[in-house]
Amino acid sequence: MAKTKTIGVVTTGGDAPGMNAAIRAVTRVAHWKSLVVVGFERGWEGLINDNFRQMTPRSVGGIIQLGGTILHTARCPEFKTSEGLAKAAKTLNEHHVDGLVVIGGDGSFKGALELSEICDTRMIGIPATIDNDVYGTDETIGFDTAVNTAVMEIDKIRDTAISHERIFIVEVMGRERGFLASTVGLTVGAEIILVPENECNFDEVVKTLKENTRKGKRAGIIVAAEGCGKVSEVAKTIEEQTESEVRLTILGYVQRGGSPTARSRLLASLFAEKAVELLCEGQGNRLVGLQNGKIGSISLEESCLKSKPIDTSLLRINEMLSI
Ligand code: F6P
Repeated sequence: MAKTKTIGVVTTGGDAPGMNAAIRAVTRVAHWKSLVVVGFERGWEGLINDNFRQMTPRSVGGIIQLGGTILHTARCPEFKTSEGLAKAAKTLNEHHVDGLVVIGGDGSFKGALELSEICDTRMIGIPATIDNDVYGTDETIGFDTAVNTAVMEIDKIRDTAISHERIFIVEVMGRERGFLASTVGLTVGAEIILVPENECNFDEVVKTLKENTRKGKRAGIIVAAEGCGKVSEVAKTIEEQTESEVRLTILGYVQRGGSPTARSRLLASLFAEKAVELLCEGQGNRLVGLQNGKIGSISLEESCLKSKPIDTSLLRINEMLSI
C-alpha cells in the first residue's frame, strides 16, 4: 500500500461557504495522523506556480465560520494546457505530495483526474459548490448555505411583491442546473419555478398567473435558475399578456458568500475526515460524498462521467403547494 506522509490541499473553481471548514478539517485530521499538509494558493494556479504554504492546526484556527477560502481560488485557463498540467505535476512531485485533496466542483475533478495521469499523487475530491451538481453526493458543501441565503433574500422581496401586488422574477445561480432553483423555489413558496432541465413554457406561465389573479392572488414570486437564460423574455411576456406589473431581481453573488450554515460545516468536516482516511488507506481518485445519508466515496472517473438528476418531485409538490 502506498504510504501517505504528505497531503496537499487546494480549493478550485467557484468558492462555496464551508470550504474553510473543509480546509480546517483536512489539516487537523491529517496532523492528528502525523501527516504533513501543504496548502496550494489560488486553485490550480498555485500548483502551476508552486505557490504554497505549510498548513498547521494553528494556521486554520478561527476559520470554520468564515465564508470563502483562505487559500483563495481562481479560474485557471493554463491548467487546461499540457504545459500547465506538467508544471502542476512537477510541483506535486517536488513536494512529494502523496495525496491531493481537491475541494471544489465538478470542473475541478475533471482537472484532478487529468493531473493524476501524469504524476504519482493520488487525488481525493471533496464536493464544494453552491450548485449541488456533483454526481456521487446527495449534497455539496455550500449548497445549504446558498439556499438559506437565497430564501432570506426572497422572503424580503415577497414583502414588496405583496404590498405592490407585483410579480417578481428572481434569478438564482446554479450554472446549467436547477438544484438551487428547485429547492429555493419550494422553500420560499414560489408560484412558479423555472429550471434548465425543463423547456420554459411561456403559455403555462401566463396561464398560471392569470388563474392566480382570478383567485385573488395578485402578487407572486417566480424563481428561475440562471441556466434558463430567458428571464427577460419571461418578464416581457408576462407584461404583454397579463395585467400584472413585473420586476426582475438577479440575486447573484450573495449566494456565494456568508458564514456557512451548521449543515455546510458538518458536511465539510465529515467529508474532510473521510478524504484523509481514504488517502491513509492508500486509496486515490475517489470522490467523497453523502450517499443516502451515509458518508462514502465513488470513483472520481464515475463522478466526472455521470450527471446527477434533479429531484423533480420538488417541482411536482411545489405545483400543489402554490395553488
Ligand atoms: O459554480 C458556482 C457558480 O456560482 C455558478 O452558480 C455560477 O454560474 C458561476 O459560479 C459563476 O462563475 P464566476 O464566479 O466565475 O463568475
